[in-house]
Parts: sequence; C-alpha cells; structure tokens
Amino acid sequence: AFVSDDYVMAADTETLARGRYLVEALGHCTECHTPRDAVGGLDRSRWMAGAPNPSGKGTIPNITPAALDWSEGDLVEYFTSGFTPDYDSAGGKMAEVVENLSRLPETDRAAIAAYVKALPAVP
Ligand code: HEC
Repeated sequence: AFVSDDYVMAADTETLARGRYLVEALGHCTECHTPRDAVGGLDRSRWMAGAPNPSGKGTIPNITPAALDWSEGDLVEYFTSGFTPDYDSAGGKMAEVVENLSRLPETDRAAIAAYVKALPAVP
C-alpha cells in the first residue's frame, strides 16, 4: 500500500480540502459519479452515489463508503495503475480518468483518496 489505511483518520483538513478541490474543480468526478436532479443540477443528496452512464450503457458506480469498501491504499493504487483490489482494471471512461490521475503527484492522488473515503455514505 502507498499510504497507511489509518491515513484517513489522520487526514487533516488541508488534505481533505486539496482532495475536494481536485475532485470537484479539476477532476470532474461528480459529472459522472453524481446523478442529476429534476432540473438537471447535480443531486447533492446523492453525491458520488452513482448515476446512469451518459453513453446510455450501464451505470457509473457509487463510490461512497456505502458501496465501496476499498482502503485508501487501494484507491491510490487504482488512481495510479487502474488496478482494483481484485486485479480487475479500470474500464470505460474511467480508464481515461486514471490516465490523467496517474500523472499527478502521489500526494494529490492520496488527497483524492482521503476525500473519497470521507464522503457521506449513500446507499
Ligand atoms: C467520464 C466519466 C467519469 C469520470 C469523469 C470519473 N469517473 Fe470514476 N468511474 C467511471 C466509470 C464508468 C467507472 C467504472 C469503471 C469500470 O467499470 O471499470 C468508474 C469507476 C470509479 C471507481 C471504482 C469504483 C468501482 O466500484 O469499481 C472509483 C474509485 C472512481 N471511479 C473514482 C473517480 C474519481 C475520484 C474521479 C475524479 C478524479 C472519477 N472517478 C471520474 C466514470 C467516471
């Protein structure tokens, strides 16, 4: 693992703020992982809880702790190599996202992982 699993507990507000910035401002993660409400805005009550795939095929997964139990190290690994804990690899549009994330400094990937782990659980 790249970062210890208790890193999240220790994650300071600065790390989470950096993660939030990368996710919400730069990463556009919410554009795919958060569903839209009736008027087309992001549904904040289902933040990162998965959404229909804009391509019309399948769905984009819920990545809140209610659905994803990966450790912080697992997330950093996925954002670096695209490998999941079961040695599957990121597919679809996420493969392109991982390619971009893999070019960031590791501290940024760790900040994104800390933010994802700190998301409110949405079943
Ligand atoms: C263009 C749409 C899109 C964007 C933008 C996007 N994702 Fe994804 N994401 C997906 C899809 C589709 C999958 C499923 C990939 C697969 O099935 O292999 C996925 C999978 C994941 C997974 C693994 C979940 C699982 O259960 O396998 C994580 C974690 C994740 N994304 C985090 C992020 C983060 C963090 C960002 C922003 C940096 C992001 N995603 C941006 C579409 C996107």
